[in-house]
Amino acid sequence: MEGKDPPVGQELDIWQSLIGSGKRNLASTKVVLGGGPFGEEEINGIDRFISEAAQINPEVFNPSTQEHLQLAGRYARLFATILQARGVDIDPAKAEALGKVHDLGRMFTHRKGRNEVIETALMKKIGFSSDFRKDLYPDTIFAPLGLEKMTPKKVAGKITSSVTDIVSNPYWAVVLTADLLAKKKDGRLRRWEDVTVQGHFFKKYEESPEMWPSEKRRWVGGKMKGGEQAINYQYTHMGRWMEKMLGVSLDEVVEHMEMSQI
Ligand SMILES: [Fe+2]
Repeated sequence: MEGKDPPVGQELDIWQSLIGSGKRNLASTKVVLGGGPFGEEEINGIDRFISEAAQINPEVFNPSTQEHLQLAGRYARLFATILQARGVDIDPAKAEALGKVHDLGRMFTHRKGRNEVIETALMKKIGFSSDFRKDLYPDTIFAPLGLEKMTPKKVAGKITSSVTDIVSNPYWAVVLTADLLAKKKDGRLRRWEDVTVQGHFFKKYEESPEMWPSEKRRWVGGKMKGGEQAINYQYTHMGRWMEKMLGVSLDEVVEHMEMSQI
């Protein structure tokens, strides 16, 4: 899969350079030290790390992935600013930082299920504090891992508990919603109705012998009909919760973002 993994033979150099860049730019920030509130030092450190990573592994960490992270950061900050004004205990700068690192694994690889394993390893190597990482939603929350082995009743229970999980931490809901909206469709920002998963998402991935077990689990879970429904169900509920908390529709936030980009 060209463009999805680092160039063959350069993997280790790229891996070590990414760790070095992350440490250099983030060691003296609250991303590594923990605590809050977040400010310019954290945001600038992450921005520098992103632009260095783009130099280190340009084939994989391409301009559209960088744009996705920047846009997710801006959305997360905007959502958090509105929520904070409405009384929610959330730090908008920390939300921006979380939005900007939510796909950190894609600095190294684009393969779904593999990038999440890489992401965890990269964060640990750089020294991301557990205090920061706890506010980054675990990917397993919306990946229907293991659902294919469960009875329908158990699937329903698992879905219900993961919806509750997502909204139990406002950072999780904010960053996941930001992630879903931080993409473009036909050159313009996508609307909330463009977010639902409709088959193509997982089906475009072919099974191959080189898949890691984590990739294969994700692929199998996402391909099955119930898996897709589970993800859509969770997105819908999270979207409703966000709109209730924000006091405006998600599409109004998208329009605001579009106007502020000009
Ligand atoms: Fe993302």
